[in-house]
Amino acid sequence: MEYGTKAGIPSKTRTQCIVVGIYEDNQLSPTAKLLDKASKGHIRKVLRRGDIQGKANQTLLLHDVPNVNSPRVLLVGLGNIDTADDHRFASVTMAAISQIKKISAKNTLCCLLEAEVGEKDLAWKTTCMVERFEAGLYSFTDMKGKPPESTPAIESIDFQLADKADQDEVSAAITQAKALTIGIAAAKDVANTPANICTPAYLATAAIQLGKDYDSITTTILEEKDMEKLGMGAFLSVSLGSDEPAKLIIMQHKGAKPRAKPHVIVGKGVTFDSGGISLKPGGTMYEMIYDMCGAASVLGTMKAIAEQQLPMNVVGVIAAAENMPSGKASRPGDIVKTMSGQTVEILNTDAEGRLLLCDALTYVEKFNPVTVIDIATLTGACLIALGTHATGLFSNADEVANNLINAGNNTLDRVWRLPIWEEYQTQIKSAFADMQNVGGRDAGSITAACFLARYTKKYRWAHLDIAGTAYKWAGLNKGATGRPVTLLTQYLNDRANEN
Ligand code: BES
Ligand code: ZN
Ligand code: MN
Repeated sequence: MEYGTKAGIPSKTRTQCIVVGIYEDNQLSPTAKLLDKASKGHIRKVLRRGDIQGKANQTLLLHDVPNVNSPRVLLVGLGNIDTADDHRFASVTMAAISQIKKISAKNTLCCLLEAEVGEKDLAWKTTCMVERFEAGLYSFTDMKGKPPESTPAIESIDFQLADKADQDEVSAAITQAKALTIGIAAAKDVANTPANICTPAYLATAAIQLGKDYDSITTTILEEKDMEKLGMGAFLSVSLGSDEPAKLIIMQHKGAKPRAKPHVIVGKGVTFDSGGISLKPGGTMYEMIYDMCGAASVLGTMKAIAEQQLPMNVVGVIAAAENMPSGKASRPGDIVKTMSGQTVEILNTDAEGRLLLCDALTYVEKFNPVTVIDIATLTGACLIALGTHATGLFSNADEVANNLINAGNNTLDRVWRLPIWEEYQTQIKSAFADMQNVGGRDAGSITAACFLARYTKKYRWAHLDIAGTAYKWAGLNKGATGRPVTLLTQYLNDRANEN
């Protein structure tokens, strides 16, 4: 899909569809006023009939509006102008794209940049629209027997500028947002690929491909024998029961001087989580193909920042393994030694994410990182605590946490911070080992984060629990959300702009 800008007279623009906003009580947006004038009152006449009231997310498709070149005008409700905010604008944008999709308009002139959105500037509105439009048009068809019937393709959407002087700001935002959506789509594709295809080796291949596609990225794969040498006993214990060898995948994006310290992102890549010997109940076990969404978000974010040519060094790490039961699998009660030297009593083989991550988090010390963020579908308890709207955030550094909170609020890919106080650490004390891998039912997401905190003392770190936000399982509408690629990309861009 191509995005561009136009600054002509909307009624004269040659396009298949014009999208214009209407506020509540049928208050016209500036472009709606222009079209009304050109059509000698046609828009107001339609509004008086009452088919649309300008409530948020309402839409009405008009045909052959007099003296308007475009054969279609899509009215979209923007709601009450006085309470207009970013959330509403985002949902209005979604409503608009689903209509554009229905009519398969080859090209569209979108006149929503003039909409009131609280304090938000043109760049924000542009990014918001590109992101929502691409999300609305995304579908995962790789697994269909034959390619889907080709509907007439939507080729381009142009944003109408109120002032030609805005061109540079909007065009720059389009370029950045396009890069972001390429990353989001890549994350969704990988995440949606089922576990019989998306194995640890598949994730490694995807990372190697990223290194081939972008000059800025170098990919390295650590095999099981390499991890043995490093003493990653916890990591390796996870895939003992699987026929798929584990991989530690490292992607280095070099956008700044070689000596500049990198930001590091680490993703949980459990390509299937059966629970292992602590087998999960069968009912919804299939959801666990999504237990590599953290890994997918790392791949997607690396792709987005490579597309953006972000002038910063970033290391993306994926801890990939499959958690299966077998005669070789680790047992509840086993004790393993981590790369850090600390030992772990595995009381539940289904708490495997933290076993992978603890060794990956020790490994990344070698990069001397500015910050480390891990991303994981770590606990069902996080879904219980925060639902599907907010990602759980845990951090040992207030500044890092606040930077993530700000990036989330700004992009609407939001996070909510939970504590990792010392008091919770008592729940994972072990009689024989240095810690155990589960802390009981209480505060399950927090004790998981407290476990990771024991491996991240040497740097500023945050943990994102995306169990509730990374995917939705909703019948034919199921799928990966691409979260938190937007959050991470914004966070990294903000850091690059700080310098
Ligand atoms: N991958 C799961 C967490 C999960 C559950 C993500 C549901 C998304 C939806 C994780 O490996 C797991 O099994 N966690 C256990 C931890 C428990 C054994 C302490 C859980 O949440 O039940
Ligand atoms: Zn898991
Ligand atoms: Mn598990």
